[in-house]
Amino acid sequence: MRPGEAANQEWADIREWDPGAASDADLAAWLRAYNGALSTDLPDDPPWGRGKLREYLAVTMPGERRLTWLAEDETAPTEQRIRGYGRLLMLNGLGVLELYVVPAARRHGLGRRLLRTIVDRAIAEGFTTLGVEAPGATASAAFYQRHGFTHAYTEMRSILELATVDWPHVAEMASAIVHGYEVEIHPGDLPDGILPAYAEAKQVRRLDPTGDLELRPSSYDPERLRASLRCLQARGLKPYIVLAKHERTGTVAGLTELVVPAQHPTRADQYDTIIVPEHNGYGLARALKARMLLELRKAEPQLREVQTWHAAVNEQLQQVNKELGFQPDREWREYEADARDLAARLVSPGS
Ligand SMILES: CC(C)(COP(=O)(O)OP(=O)(O)OC[C@H]1O[C@@H](n2cnc3c(N)ncnc32)[C@H](O)[C@@H]1OP(=O)(O)O)[C@@H](O)C(=O)NCCC(=O)NCCS
Repeated sequence: MRPGEAANQEWADIREWDPGAASDADLAAWLRAYNGALSTDLPDDPPWGRGKLREYLAVTMPGERRLTWLAEDETAPTEQRIRGYGRLLMLNGLGVLELYVVPAARRHGLGRRLLRTIVDRAIAEGFTTLGVEAPGATASAAFYQRHGFTHAYTEMRSILELATVDWPHVAEMASAIVHGYEVEIHPGDLPDGILPAYAEAKQVRRLDPTGDLELRPSSYDPERLRASLRCLQARGLKPYIVLAKHERTGTVAGLTELVVPAQHPTRADQYDTIIVPEHNGYGLARALKARMLLELRKAEPQLREVQTWHAAVNEQLQQVNKELGFQPDREWREYEADARDLAARLVSPGS
């Protein structure tokens, strides 16, 4: 046992927790703890609210499972008793971790204990590889590297403050769509009829992978896409989709996806933007992303910011983001580890 762990053991118990069946008091305590961590690690991010929080934490895609743990100090007042949170999302072949410890409880070995709980369970569930996504310039990098995770992929998070947007210019960008394409806007859902063409366009991402660990995998067939949209809606993540249809063939030539989360409705999350290669060079990405902003301005008046993550290599999209007014915020890093190696390191003294 390492220094600090013994004392910590006394005041934080780790228990498995089902947010789907949790009491409102538990959810309020989780939110308080999460916002406590957020205000230290990502102080410019909006704090989360209660909107669809239970569903956000509990609902998964068909075939996926999510296990969660709380580290609690039973002697603290109810609303302050959560000291840390761990999660294992079980995707096809990959276990994805999420972990936080409230600032006041850090550097006492609790993160390590939560990690060990998750890793033991992941192995018991048959997972050999674990992945985690961590915001740069926080304690996470030192923590995961200390435990032997390998840095696998880096993305940049950029943020657009809507108050700074040059709206007449964005309107111009949106209207600069070449002849032969029709733009469709789908707030909230996609009609069944478009799903096969949409799924085909999404295949492009699979054929030209970015090299990330697929910690948030995209859906590539109509059935999976339908399930994914249902899952987003159930978790309180309202999808907005803008697509360009190639009029002559009826195919989807390009698309951009974004969600407005009920948990932080002032900041939207940009998802995939894809242009099918034979439709490259017509300014579709530029027009679609601009059209999305115009739609959001009308439909989501409470929205203040949009955040997006992009690989350093995607120059075309970066150019569009820059023209729209996105500003680089911080790196986001993906780490991976072999589950058994990790478990061995976590039990060996002094590791
Ligand atoms: C990363 C995190 C889980 C670590 O929790 P913790 O309880 O402090 O971790 P531990 O005490 O078990 O630390 C284990 C080892 O990791 C390393 N480590 C952890 N925090 C570190 C830091 N700030 N700087 C350098 N090394 C660090 C150390 O090697 C440490 O061992 P030591 O204390 O004996 O030197 C915690 O800092 C955290 O929640 N960070 C924020 C995570 C996040 O993503 N936030 C954004 C959304 S809320």
